[in-house]
Amino acid sequence: MKIQIPRGTVDIMPGESEKWQYVEHVAQEIFKRARYSEIRTPIFEHTELFQKGVGDTTDIVTKEMYTFNDRKERSMTLRPEGTASVARAYVEHKLFGQVNQPAKLFYCGPMFRYERPQKGRQRQFVQIGAEAIGVQDPAVDAEMMALALSIYQELCLKEIKLVINSLGDKTSRLAHREALIAHFKPSIHEFCSDCQTRLEKNPLRILDCKVDHAHPLIATAPSIIDFLTDESLDYYTQVKRHLDVIEVPYVEDATMVRGLDYYNHTTFEIMSESKGFGAITTLCGGGRYNGLVEELGGPASPGVGFAMSIERLLAALAAEEITLPIANHLDVFVVGVGEAVSPITLKLTLAARKAGFTAERDYLSKKVKGQFKTADRENARFVVVVGEEELAEGLIVIKDMTTGTQEKIAMSDYIATLQKKQHEGETN
Ligand code: HAM
Repeated sequence: MKIQIPRGTVDIMPGESEKWQYVEHVAQEIFKRARYSEIRTPIFEHTELFQKGVGDTTDIVTKEMYTFNDRKERSMTLRPEGTASVARAYVEHKLFGQVNQPAKLFYCGPMFRYERPQKGRQRQFVQIGAEAIGVQDPAVDAEMMALALSIYQELCLKEIKLVINSLGDKTSRLAHREALIAHFKPSIHEFCSDCQTRLEKNPLRILDCKVDHAHPLIATAPSIIDFLTDESLDYYTQVKRHLDVIEVPYVEDATMVRGLDYYNHTTFEIMSESKGFGAITTLCGGGRYNGLVEELGGPASPGVGFAMSIERLLAALAAEEITLPIANHLDVFVVGVGEAVSPITLKLTLAARKAGFTAERDYLSKKVKGQFKTADRENARFVVVVGEEELAEGLIVIKDMTTGTQEKIAMSDYIATLQKKQHEGETN
């Protein structure tokens, strides 16, 4: 039987992988300019990290984790997201002790969630994310949103919108929690068994339920905004003021519930508004998590961050019919006349690559005509021809495929001639 790829995963094949490289490069450049440094944490962690960090009432932890025992019977989990790992590393490497705060970190790598696969939802997906840990300042929240948006903007996406909300501080959330319990309790028997458990454990999760999302009580549930303490409301107002001044448009949505428990104060999502995008429209999610580092054993260190999957980003580009300007040019194709010159064609190919050109040759013992055909198909800028007779005199032929001109040169002048010709081509 043929072994097939696991459900919810993909092979990123040539033709597609260049897009991934391009997007990753754009993000890296943006992070570099914003003075974010890359962090690479393990793909698997102790299961407890996510139970504590992401929250043991979330769908991610209760239903979607790839958890296994290692050979010493320790429970390990393939990371479903990056924030908990980054916060763990922040504590483990005592980044809180550094002079420069917040610690500004970014990451890019695969995450794993056992979800029902559909367009834009996979079991293995790649997140690009950023975290700023160590400071609570509305400017950092606003900068984080602008940073996430700038990745989409740099890639020319237009049909996107930023949606924001505030979950407030502990006091606000407690008051909201009580109101939610009072709201749902009398009719909780109409809800799924998960929601019945959620009622006491974490009633906010009822608003996020995939089964009961159409129940009328969800739409009439008390809004968090009405329970924000003066301080929380002030913080939220400050965040919005920063967004206004830096001219980042946003819409507010008091019903936005994020699927992770660590959030407080600011939460946000970036959605695609493109018609062709499909049912799942969230491209990016993020927010503030002031208690997470403390929960993981570190000193109280407020944090804020976001993550976006490359899969959804590429889907958004496709929906807006944006083609990435990916360079895939061939500078030099080396043609050999007769098999005896094979080592020399290899030598010239390698020499061109070493000098910084993209270079290729034939590996199928094709006739000269066939080799030229390949060079044509690959759109080679220069074809270098090596024949036995010329070689005896130390000569080779360089043909410029754009002008059709060719000249015989000394093999010792090979690289210098290529460089000169390329330079002339660029300045013409
Ligand atoms: P999240 O909302 O769970 O947040 O995921 C963030 C993004 O990851 C989503 O907006 C989506 O682009 C992508 N994503 C999630 N699940 C899938 C999937 N199954 N298939 C494809 N893409 C997916 C977090 O993960 C938080 N750690 C974000 C964060 C960072 N908050 C603060 N810092």
